Amino acid sequence: MGIIEKVSGPLVVAKDMLGSSMYDVVKVGKDSLVGEIIQLNGEKAVIQVYEDTTGMGPGEAVESTGVPLSVELGPGILSNIYDGIQRPLEVIRSKSGAFIEKGIVADPIDKKKKWKFVPEKGMKAGSIVKEGEIIGYVQETELIKHYIMVPYGISGRIKSIKQGSFTVDDSVAKVDLKNKVFDIKMSQVRPVRKASKFKTKFRSDEPLVTGQRIIDTLFPVAKGGTAGVPGPFGAGKTVIQHQLAKYADSDIVVYVGCGERGNEMTEILTEFPELKDPRSGRPLMERTVLIANTSNMPVAAREASIYTGITIAEYFRDMGYSVAIMADSTSRWAEAMREISSRLEEMPGEEGYPAYLPKRLAEYYERGGKVESLSGKIGSVTIVGAVSPPGGDLSEPVSQGTLRVVKAFWSLDAALASSRHFPSINWLSSYSLYLDSLAGWYDKNVDKEFMAARKECMQILQREAELKDIVQLVGAEALPDHERLVLEVGRMIRENFLRQSAFDEVDAYTSLKKQSFMLRSMLNFSRKAEEALKSGATTDRISKMAVVAQIARMKEVKETDVDRYEKKIAEDINRELGAIVAEYKESEKG
Ligand SMILES: Nc1ncnc2c1ncn2[C@@H]1O[C@H](COP(=O)(O)OP(=O)(O)OP(=O)(O)O)[C@@H](O)[C@H]1O
Ligand SMILES: [Mg+2]
Repeated sequence: MGIIEKVSGPLVVAKDMLGSSMYDVVKVGKDSLVGEIIQLNGEKAVIQVYEDTTGMGPGEAVESTGVPLSVELGPGILSNIYDGIQRPLEVIRSKSGAFIEKGIVADPIDKKKKWKFVPEKGMKAGSIVKEGEIIGYVQETELIKHYIMVPYGISGRIKSIKQGSFTVDDSVAKVDLKNKVFDIKMSQVRPVRKASKFKTKFRSDEPLVTGQRIIDTLFPVAKGGTAGVPGPFGAGKTVIQHQLAKYADSDIVVYVGCGERGNEMTEILTEFPELKDPRSGRPLMERTVLIANTSNMPVAAREASIYTGITIAEYFRDMGYSVAIMADSTSRWAEAMREISSRLEEMPGEEGYPAYLPKRLAEYYERGGKVESLSGKIGSVTIVGAVSPPGGDLSEPVSQGTLRVVKAFWSLDAALASSRHFPSINWLSSYSLYLDSLAGWYDKNVDKEFMAARKECMQILQREAELKDIVQLVGAEALPDHERLVLEVGRMIRENFLRQSAFDEVDAYTSLKKQSFMLRSMLNFSRKAEEALKSGATTDRISKMAVVAQIARMKEVKETDVDRYEKKIAEDINRELGAIVAEYKESEKG
């Protein structure tokens, strides 16, 4: 038992702490606030406290629990909304009313609810099991089978295994290791600051399909990949992360609201429970875990929320699911680190951030990946992190640290956002390093021509940007007709394809099939129009064709009407261009 010597914001220095270890969770002061030892010098410990320390003072007691900061994992975790240290917000609220009481404790998962446990085939008395192996499952929600895995550190011979309804704390199996018997429950704890174990990590060859055209077509992220979304104030970081949480084809979503304004989180808390999974029609929350740590909550808990989130994500990965974790915003997480570090009087690195910031960022993103888990199942964690560089300047440390490790970079652009071009992902400065590994998947599952079409699309956009620079200097009239056509097609791609409203029912999600149709139609237009130019048509005339307006409406086409619409557009392109060329030939004759 230690004694508080000093309190400094979220940090507490305690003496008489001999016997405790780094990262031990401690109960601090008379309110028993949860904290974590982050520095240990002899018998003195520096503790970061996850609750408001106002009113706490020297002389109060500190008690170590002897365990590291952990999450509790088991059936009942889905649909939950947690704070940064996995306290369920609903339960806390119902216990303490609008103002969260200090030191309040609440079980992360319901301890009273009974779940129907079904042993895996072949799991019976005498079976040998190892840590991480699946012994049975609970149908947690309609879509998700929650596999029960042998906790870390336990392996041996099953003595007995039950079937029936149990709480997460009941023993469902007994495992015998050298005459020592372990009870296996449906819940387990894992420390949050250490990556969960797995057998092997793979290169992923499958995209996370998000339904967001600029992402899926131009800058895809692999399942198990990492993506950074830097963007200045109001550029659309939160909307993009929400779009992914709603529409990405991952089995499980973990959404970490990290240090953002309370109202942004309120939006999620009110909106998400109403949303339906577009693929199954089931409530989205059945496959979602939300972690809400808003700017008015203690800074240390914000620092922890990222780890709480990723550990929950890894747990579902180990069951063989594809998990996507969104963090909005990692900059607030970094700022929490900076605040704690400066109170610790550590040597500051760039812009006052601790020198270990890049390492922490890298370690976080390294916890993404597609793996064969200890259970033998293949699962993935895809990490998408928003970054909020002050003033949008990407040379600052959090953006740089993120750039160095993520393999997809969706760079949001203030100018695009202010012209209401959303998502404001800049197509010239964003990138994906997953194209090569995903090409085979696109060939097989979308269209053999898709990757080539993507490349052609990028080339047009790049060419358009160059030409626009020239136009700035000399005016559009100075360009030859085929270059003006590039400008026209570039505009078409930007306005009709890259732009996508998150708030329009049809436009909010576009399947890959439809993305491919849209792309093909525009490129078809581009090629045929180029041909027509050679036969004397002019870009001015071509851009006034009725089919151009039809192409602009492609985004409104329902998924079920795609085939019909594509055919019609192709026919109209031929017919209208044919007419223009004929007209020209006629006038030439005359
Ligand atoms: N895809 C989109 N479709 C339509 N509107 C959008 C889209 N993305 C962003 N917006 C508009 O931009 C506004 C700001 O977006 P958002 O809140 O996501 O920005 P942010 O980058 O998270 O801002 P902050 O820095 O304040 O957190 C939204 O309220 C919305 O009006
Ligand atoms: Mg935001």
